[in-house]
Amino acid sequence: MQTVNSIVELRRQIKAWRQHGQRIAFVPTMGNLHAGHLALVEQAKQHADRVVVSIFVNPMQFGPGEDFDSYPRTLAADSVKLEQVAIDLLFAPSVEEVYPHGHGVASQIEVPEASEGLCAESRPGHFSGVATVVAKLFNMVQPDCALFGEKDYQQLQVIRRMVADLCFPIEIVAVPTKREADGLAMSSRNGYLSVVEREIAPRLHQALQQVTQGLKQGRRDYVALEQEGAEFLVAAGFVPEYFTIRQADTLQAAEPGMPELIVLAAAKLGKTRLIDNLDCSLVE
Ligand code: PAJ
Repeated sequence: MQTVNSIVELRRQIKAWRQHGQRIAFVPTMGNLHAGHLALVEQAKQHADRVVVSIFVNPMQFGPGEDFDSYPRTLAADSVKLEQVAIDLLFAPSVEEVYPHGHGVASQIEVPEASEGLCAESRPGHFSGVATVVAKLFNMVQPDCALFGEKDYQQLQVIRRMVADLCFPIEIVAVPTKREADGLAMSSRNGYLSVVEREIAPRLHQALQQVTQGLKQGRRDYVALEQEGAEFLVAAGFVPEYFTIRQADTLQAAEPGMPELIVLAAAKLGKTRLIDNLDCSLVE
């Protein structure tokens, strides 16, 4: 595995691989790698000859008062993990390399519809920051395919829409959410949880399971189901931001008769904001 920090070095290597007709898969991350990220890497290997992983904590996607400064930066440990899974190239640029004029004045990508509602309610500008950095990284790496986790489902839909709208010649591959044994979706932010909070945290997944079970049993009273899910979270000690049943492909409000639904939730547990989702196919 080679590690490069500059766009020039990155492009030199990519060009050499391209000249040999090799297919390139790309996994963008913010580091502090866990088994969820590594599941993306394993999938990437199935899709290409070469795997590029980026580690970049993107200031543009963090709002004022969010955890940009305290976000865990563990490059040395991450490098060891990536060596072990034998990726080809780690791209770890500085903020100056990615935003030479400063991220506050950088050109921005706005993705309508997919970027509205849900997480955007409490994180205005977040998805513009995500879309912008991913577009920049796509232009730097120019991969054949890129892998994203279903854990960040709205982010995945934003990226899909951006790729379609802007005609990026890149296949987007979605990878199922990797969970701890007790059901908690793996996340770099789980490290913020206290011992007591960590015990409570899997209830988020349980609430989603209860609601998807209700749907599978034929319940169609979406508003009541959403309310029950949110109440379950409150009783467990969370402060829910949203608990909602949507169409899986458009994220629009669910309507009776729709076969592919997804239940999404975001909730705070103490100071930590957790998100999770479960898709629910009603087709037998
Ligand atoms: P980060 O949170 O580091 O996640 C990188 C990728 O790993 C994303 O595609 C995310 O959905 C996926 N991922 C995280 N936890 C997962 C889990 N438990 N199971 C499966 N996949 C998981 O998401 C970002 O970084 C950033 O927004 C980024 C896309 C890199 C842009 O800055």
